[in-house]
Amino acid sequence: MKNFARLVRFAWPYRVRFGLSLACAVMVALLWSANISAVYPLLKILFYSENCQKWVAERIVTQQTEVRKLDARLEQIKVIQEMGDPTGPALKAHFVVVHKDFEGKRKLAQELERAFNDGIALKGKPGAGNRDKIILQARQADQFVADARLDELKRFSDLLPLEPGTNPLDGRQASLLRERSNASWWLSTYRWTQPKIDRFLPNKGFQTLVLLMVMVITGVAIKGLFLFLQEVLVADVMQLTLFDIRNHFFRRTLALDLSNFSDQGSSELIARFTNDMDSLAQGLNTLLSKVIREPLRAISCLSIALWLNWRLTCLALVLVPVSAMTANRAGQIMKRAVRRSLESMSNIYKILQETFQGIVVVKAFTMERRERRRFFLETKSLYKKSVRVATIDALSDPVLEMLALSTVSIALLAGSYLVLNGTIFLDLGLFKLQLASHRMAIEDLLYLYATLAGISDPVRKMANVHSRIQRAAAAADRICSLMDRQPQVADKPKAARLPRHYKTIEFDQVEFSYNGRDPILRGINLSVKHGETVALVGPNGCGKSTMMSLLTRFWDVEAGSIRIDGHDLRDVQMRSLRSQIGMVIQETILFEDTIANNIAYGNRHANRDAVIAAAKRSYAHQFISAMPDGYETVIGERGLGLSGGQRQRIALARAMLLDPAILILDEATSAVDIQDEALIRKAIEEFSRNRTTFLITHSLGSLQFADRIVLINAGRIESVGTDSELRRSSPLYRRLHEIHFQRESA
Ligand SMILES: Nc1ncnc2c1ncn2[C@@H]1O[C@H](COP(=O)(O)OP(=O)(O)OP(=O)(O)O)[C@@H](O)[C@H]1O
Ligand SMILES: [Mg+2]
Repeated sequence: MKNFARLVRFAWPYRVRFGLSLACAVMVALLWSANISAVYPLLKILFYSENCQKWVAERIVTQQTEVRKLDARLEQIKVIQEMGDPTGPALKAHFVVVHKDFEGKRKLAQELERAFNDGIALKGKPGAGNRDKIILQARQADQFVADARLDELKRFSDLLPLEPGTNPLDGRQASLLRERSNASWWLSTYRWTQPKIDRFLPNKGFQTLVLLMVMVITGVAIKGLFLFLQEVLVADVMQLTLFDIRNHFFRRTLALDLSNFSDQGSSELIARFTNDMDSLAQGLNTLLSKVIREPLRAISCLSIALWLNWRLTCLALVLVPVSAMTANRAGQIMKRAVRRSLESMSNIYKILQETFQGIVVVKAFTMERRERRRFFLETKSLYKKSVRVATIDALSDPVLEMLALSTVSIALLAGSYLVLNGTIFLDLGLFKLQLASHRMAIEDLLYLYATLAGISDPVRKMANVHSRIQRAAAAADRICSLMDRQPQVADKPKAARLPRHYKTIEFDQVEFSYNGRDPILRGINLSVKHGETVALVGPNGCGKSTMMSLLTRFWDVEAGSIRIDGHDLRDVQMRSLRSQIGMVIQETILFEDTIANNIAYGNRHANRDAVIAAAKRSYAHQFISAMPDGYETVIGERGLGLSGGQRQRIALARAMLLDPAILILDEATSAVDIQDEALIRKAIEEFSRNRTTFLITHSLGSLQFADRIVLINAGRIESVGTDSELRRSSPLYRRLHEIHFQRESA
């Protein structure tokens, strides 16, 4: 998860866009809950054929009562203030008076209510006896007012005894005044809107319903717009983030030293750039869009549900920890499963690359069967692992849905119990559980269900979020593990530039091994003067190419040192070193590009004349100009290949164009035919003038122009000398010579 978080941080530069998408998500959540809230007026209309006029009239009555109640409270405070000593017996007497007044009014109101309800029962329909109802409402209002006064007195007695110097009455009075101005503002607002509602809004139940539906549809449309914006913004942020991660990753990978490429395998690297990046992208998308949006939607509905009835809502939420634990466990299993499937995918890339790159060998040795088998086994293993991932993914959906349904059912059962029994307590035998603050009507309950169901939709959508993110976390681990590798061969912090080589190259007691165990080079001592041409000869695997890799600092020496003009290679900037070295290696590497660009690789500013001059020098010009597109021929396109000798000559031209101070030719002419070899040898001879040249070759005939020959055997320098000297002194050299001579004459 840590690695995933690290990669998510790449989104930081795009926070403004992300902020905008967040704002859209908030709007989506608000509109979502607003649309669900439309259920309530809908139910009111359906049950009581209510309309807006009725609603506003009721609101006005409610606010009026509220204002009167607040007035009564304020009046009560004034009475207490006028009494002088609030702790005295006068207050007690006053309390008795108020209490009596309240009791009387309450009784009267109750009697009237009963009579009114009986009247409804007799006439059989609500709304009967409008006059009675108005009288009842007036009585009830009276009772509320008396209640408010009594309430204020009780509250005041709580405040006693007073702290000296404080007067809680003032504070109370101020807060009541605030409340009163608030209530009267609402009252006047309702009064102001009443005539407009009467005039413009439909007063029939059905028409009101139509209006409501139009509003809901408009709401859904606006919500859709915000949803669209959010998704587009998130996709933008996600792609930009991925763009940065890819480039950062590529830069880090290029900076790694060669050892990483040889033991990681390029197909493994490619898998990390493609397959793993894909999984990461999905996770990022989920994180940036769903993880933000769905909980917001759930929260907005949840707050309505809590506001409607927090007790029932909390009861419904007892299953939430269970869901969370389930999701967490599923996530862990998921991450493991995904890691395995990603590894399997890497292996497939490996097989593909090996087979296609070596297709000639595969076919020549008729190994199609074996490759098919290998591919079959690995894809089968991927199939199993992927199905496992899909199974875990698919399981999470129904499980969470069940949990969500159970959640709503709990609230449904408890709520129905309350409504059916007309109570606010759930009788559990031993004790009673209060589940509502007031008796719930059926529409209140249905409204609560609608909001709870509204929560379950985002929760369901969140179901596979966890597994998606775990999937991305597994990919992030693989990406970061490579990104965190430190190149072992790196510039020192204040490495100096290496000036152009003009004096000597020294190998001083150089020891080296690739794996830290088996020594490849042992005690190599060699000093080469500027301008000298040194040939390295020796049997296969004796360490010639390795010596040159150390000179180019692809690897660092294990012991001893290599110095150019007295500068230890480890103390100079790698760039300044390598830019002085022209290299033609055993395996010629060309890029899918024009021949001209392949020759100019490493020297982008070279003009066409320079490119042609280099090609002429390496005797490549002739065959290049014979091609239909000449220097513009794209290598590798349309199956157009080059022969081994042609490739070597292009590589030679590339090295020559660089004008290097040091030239390394590792079997540079091994594939060139005998006729051309003589020409190229001459070209190299000319070109190596004034440059220090290392020549690795098995064809001992080309050693004539070398100033010195270094004979290497099993990682040691066996002897150094000219051709004739070595022939005299070294039996190994004589044997190599004989073999070469036999081959030449055969
Ligand atoms: N990247 C590598 N990782 C581990 N071992 C390596 C690596 N490259 C070469 N070796 C080993 O180091 C030894 C010397 O290899 P090197 O390529 O220097 O031989 P060479 O003298 O150039 O041979 P050849 O004449 O065949 O080109 C060999 O035994 C080889 O197995
Ligand atoms: Mg070699």
